[in-house]
Amino acid sequence: MRSLAVLHASQLVTLDGPKRPRVGAEMSELAIIRDGGMLIRDGKIESVGPSDEIEKNVGDAEISDARGRVVIPGFVDAHTHLVFAGNRLDDFERRARGETYEQIAKAGGGIWSTVEKTRAASEPDLLLQAKKHANWFLRCGTTTAEAKSGYGLTVEDELKILRVMRQLKDRVALEIVPTFLGAHAVPRERSLDAYLDVVVTEMLPRVTQQKLAEFCDVFSERGYFNIDQSRKILSTAKKLGLSLRGHVDQLTKSGGAQLMAEMGATTADHLEQTDEQGIAALKRAKVQPVLLPGAVYALGLSRYPRTREMIKAGLAVVLATDFNPGSSPTPSMPMVLSLACTQMKMSPAEAITASSVNAAYCLNRGDKIGSLEPGKLANFAIFDCEDYRELAYWFGMPQTHSVYIKGECVSKSGGV
Ligand code: NIG
Ligand code: FE
Repeated sequence: MRSLAVLHASQLVTLDGPKRPRVGAEMSELAIIRDGGMLIRDGKIESVGPSDEIEKNVGDAEISDARGRVVIPGFVDAHTHLVFAGNRLDDFERRARGETYEQIAKAGGGIWSTVEKTRAASEPDLLLQAKKHANWFLRCGTTTAEAKSGYGLTVEDELKILRVMRQLKDRVALEIVPTFLGAHAVPRERSLDAYLDVVVTEMLPRVTQQKLAEFCDVFSERGYFNIDQSRKILSTAKKLGLSLRGHVDQLTKSGGAQLMAEMGATTADHLEQTDEQGIAALKRAKVQPVLLPGAVYALGLSRYPRTREMIKAGLAVVLATDFNPGSSPTPSMPMVLSLACTQMKMSPAEAITASSVNAAYCLNRGDKIGSLEPGKLANFAIFDCEDYRELAYWFGMPQTHSVYIKGECVSKSGGV
């Protein structure tokens, strides 16, 4: 039995609390232990408390001295597009010249250009690139990341992306939660109706048969999939046993939030254009909003979601990176915390809750990860600062000291 004792953290941010996503004022309660310690056995947390208490039971455990440092649960990033080939540097320059996301997509950039590169990449090549991305996440303190397909758009290429996620499991420490996003865009070679048919009658049955995904997502947006088309895909996925997520109300308001409520989805993501009716619908159906400020920032836009209204309405808000080559090329949850506090007026404590325990629940893993409580996996990150608020305050500067998954050090600043 392997044991590890983390001792003397200036703040051990436990997020100990009710066994469900946190809402309203609960989002500000981090259950911090000063001079905190944690005993880990066989990858799981055995006890958490003041260091002098924990020290009594250390026995022959390896000691990690966290003096002067903050310890938090590893970030859970609930919305990423982690598997893709290449980058979108041309789009980036075009945006700097003033072109919009939609204009760039029409001119041959956008999702389609990543689809072409991803189709052309062999499975081993794609795996290599995905491994590189996964290590970026670890370096930022993320220990679990949801990952979507969606850059293949043929049966074989979508399956290839999902298989890469499965292979990643044995090759990187980062835990990956796979989502099928065949309805990310309509491929050039097919009509919308023909493609919808492929998604519903070919892709979804094969994805579920091979157990390659836990969730199904759809990009519900003008020029991509409308509400009726999105409903068709999501209801088929639901019948096949997948839980649901959705890219809704990102660039235009289409009633996407209401659709996710109607479908009983686990999450509704983006929501930059969602109004109070949409917020009320999410509340009634207990759908968790996943907010993605990195995409607003990187697209050079200024309309962030109505976060304070969502918290006031009692929604269990989640923050995520939306890591992708087009609209949000960042794997950094600390960057997202900074944006959440400066642009969306979340408090640093609310932002931490939204990126740990609430995020874990929206990936159906609230009983295993997201907080530092006895019985949960020992997934945590140690940062080179004394106060958790510094994570959101200093920006553009890595503060990660070390990252642990199931009690094993998987990333250390300056190398493991
Ligand atoms: O979440 N909105 C759709 N999908 C991504 C963008 C993907 C891309 O541009 O490659 C998003 O923003
Ligand atoms: Fe996305």
